[in-house]
Amino acid sequence: MNFKRNILITGGAGFIGSHVVRLFVKKYPEYRIVNLDKLTYAGNLANLADIEGAANYVFERADICDFERIREIFATYGIDGVIHLAAESHVDRSIKDPFTFARTNVLGTLSLLQAAKLYWESLEQKFEGKLFYHISTDEVYGSLAMTDPAGTPAPFSTQASAGTRHEAYGNAFFTETTPYSPHSPYSASKASSDHFVRAFHDTYGLPTLVTNCSNNYGPYQFPEKLIPLFINNIRHGKPLPVYGKGENVRDWLFVEDHARAIDLIFHKGKIAETYNIGGFNEWKNIDLIKVLVRVTDRLLGNPAGTSDKLITYVTDRLGHDARYAIDSRKLQKELGWEPSLQFEEGLEKTVRWYLDNQAWLDNVTSGDYQHYYEKMYKGR
Ligand code: NAD
Ligand code: DAU
Repeated sequence: MNFKRNILITGGAGFIGSHVVRLFVKKYPEYRIVNLDKLTYAGNLANLADIEGAANYVFERADICDFERIREIFATYGIDGVIHLAAESHVDRSIKDPFTFARTNVLGTLSLLQAAKLYWESLEQKFEGKLFYHISTDEVYGSLAMTDPAGTPAPFSTQASAGTRHEAYGNAFFTETTPYSPHSPYSASKASSDHFVRAFHDTYGLPTLVTNCSNNYGPYQFPEKLIPLFINNIRHGKPLPVYGKGENVRDWLFVEDHARAIDLIFHKGKIAETYNIGGFNEWKNIDLIKVLVRVTDRLLGNPAGTSDKLITYVTDRLGHDARYAIDSRKLQKELGWEPSLQFEEGLEKTVRWYLDNQAWLDNVTSGDYQHYYEKMYKGR
């Protein structure tokens, strides 16, 4: 079968990647989607069980650092577009093991860039119609103050609607021109990879794009991250470890809204541009946790307040960034993207998904998910 486009999505067995793969496989039967993933602890092919038989879907187990293998994959499938999500993504792990983050996030991205460049340069049309789209994070911008320079408190823990509160708040958000100032080994490795992507555009003319997104939440997130970890702990009556005083602020976006933004930017974004993605939805951790506990108890049928006692303040994360808040007006104005869900609606949908899919959580926490590839793919 001849496909209109051959798109390589890296990290497609992970949390965000699986939503992007599913969206593209279903929405674009005319594209061939090649999901390339190493299947580290964070990769779970069961996330894609519903589309794995699709005629326009292929899975390749590979390490993005394996340059020769990546070159082979570009040539085999005639790749003309890349959406690069594969990464080590958990800040706490980066604090314990920074080398793995430098290897995958920096060297792995470089290996993909060089493979794309060499393959596309070998074609008659060269870079025409090609795109290398790199998915990055708001953490590269560093940490924001809790008040603006005039001392006005930041608009966190609110359902701040896009634009209005922001206009009132001046420049205390990350914009596309905020200078990079990463603090954790994770964000330092992502910042470095972003710089490599832009360097490949500026030096060789490789058609690249970068987006920086805020904290995602939703189905299929590995239960080491705040929201699924806490839902799972509530199920088991285990402590909910709140780092420090729980005052840090994060800006939350439903994962399917991120996937929709990626689709839009892949098709309509301008080469060499950066777009910030976020829903103007800042929450202090402790406020979010209280809502999460309330919703989870309600959906489990527990009397209100049952799990409040599980909230446990623990030693803070080293170098814990105080506040992230994304200004996504460029994406909203230039490409017309908007988040589709209000936070409490998205959170309820998320909790419901984990409670309806407790087997998924048990499979991940027991480690059984790591046998999925052997069972389903080996010998095909
Ligand atoms: P994740 O940890 O859930 O998934 C990462 C995937 O990459 C896994 O499937 C893993 O197997 C794969 N992978 C890791 N190392 C690899 C390697 N060497 N070769 C091939 N595959 C490898 O991550 P996520 O939360 O889905 O994040 C995806 C991307 O989005 C990352 O680049 C991350 O930096 C970025 N991001 C995440 C968030 C968030 O809130 N989760 C927000 C903004 C940006
Ligand atoms: O901002 C985007 C980033 O969001 C992504 O680039 C990262 O890949 C993603 O992991 C996420 O990073 P965070 O460190 O913000 O996410 P995490 O879920 O680990 O933590 C969210 C907040 O909750 C943070 O302030 C730390 C706090 N926390 C986290 C855990 C796991 C706790 O208080 N207790 C916990 O047990």
